[in-house]
Amino acid sequence: MAYETILVETRGRVGLITLNRPKALNALNSQVLEEVVAAAEAFDANARIGAIVLTGSQKAFAAGADIKEMQAKSYVEAYMEDFFSGWEHFTRVRKPVIAAVAGYALGGGCELAMMCDFIIAADNAKFGQPEITLGVMPGMGGSQRLTRFVGKSKAMEMCLTGRMMEAEEAERCGLVSRVVPAGELIEEALEVAGKIAEFSLPAVMMTKEAVNRAYETTLAEGLRFERRVFHSMFALDDQKEGMAAFTEKRSAQFRNR
Ligand code: HXC
Repeated sequence: MAYETILVETRGRVGLITLNRPKALNALNSQVLEEVVAAAEAFDANARIGAIVLTGSQKAFAAGADIKEMQAKSYVEAYMEDFFSGWEHFTRVRKPVIAAVAGYALGGGCELAMMCDFIIAADNAKFGQPEITLGVMPGMGGSQRLTRFVGKSKAMEMCLTGRMMEAEEAERCGLVSRVVPAGELIEEALEVAGKIAEFSLPAVMMTKEAVNRAYETTLAEGLRFERRVFHSMFALDDQKEGMAAFTEKRSAQFRNR
């Protein structure tokens, strides 16, 4: 597929998707949605890929949903087309997806980063849910996911004031896993993704599924799910190989990569 709003590359076993609408600070219009979902699904289906990195530019990961595209929509149009529900396809990608965020991650941009499995931020990253300044509220998960990431008080403040949060605060409150110098962001994210892609892919995917369960169910159900999946891993060749490699003091050669 020929993409117009994103760049798609493969680096070893890592799929790299770069949002590329520089004139609009990577604002997320319907074409971006279609292309990001298509590229992520293609990597998910590609047996040679073990992890995916989603990034933007140094100035903006994404400055939000495309305000110019949506401003004239009526309620009926928004409802009937189930506006922005297409991003749910992105959240169904089963391989790990890392967001590498530099610059602005605002509104839908912050929400898209939060749909990824974890966020590595450049030291110039700025996160925010400024929808309130436009007379609306987050519509791609911000009111729910931000609250789960950073807790009610900070999420409420961010959504009600629209203020931006710098990378350091984002790390302190658990929105991002870590902060790196802006110039090293992509290489760092690719290295982390590359490391994940060396492990047993079924083990990686099951681990992602289990951590995500923590957000969707009770502790008792989540623990039950974890234990069942953990038990099932003893059916993997890679479990035998990983544990044999440890006892034989050599590095594991996982077959299911
Ligand atoms: C459309 C956008 C845009 C957006 C920036 N641009 N953000 N276009 N939608 N979300 C465009 C500008 O119109 C401008 O185009 C160009 O990108 C450069 O932006 P500037 O504003 O000139 O840059 P700068 O002065 O550096 O300011 C950067 C900024 C500002 C602070 C990020 O652009 C900004 O506040 N953007 C809007 C952020 C926002 O409110 N996001 C939430 C959107 S709502 P021209 O043609 O003038 O050069 C949302 C809802 C999600 O995301 C849920 C939906 C269901």
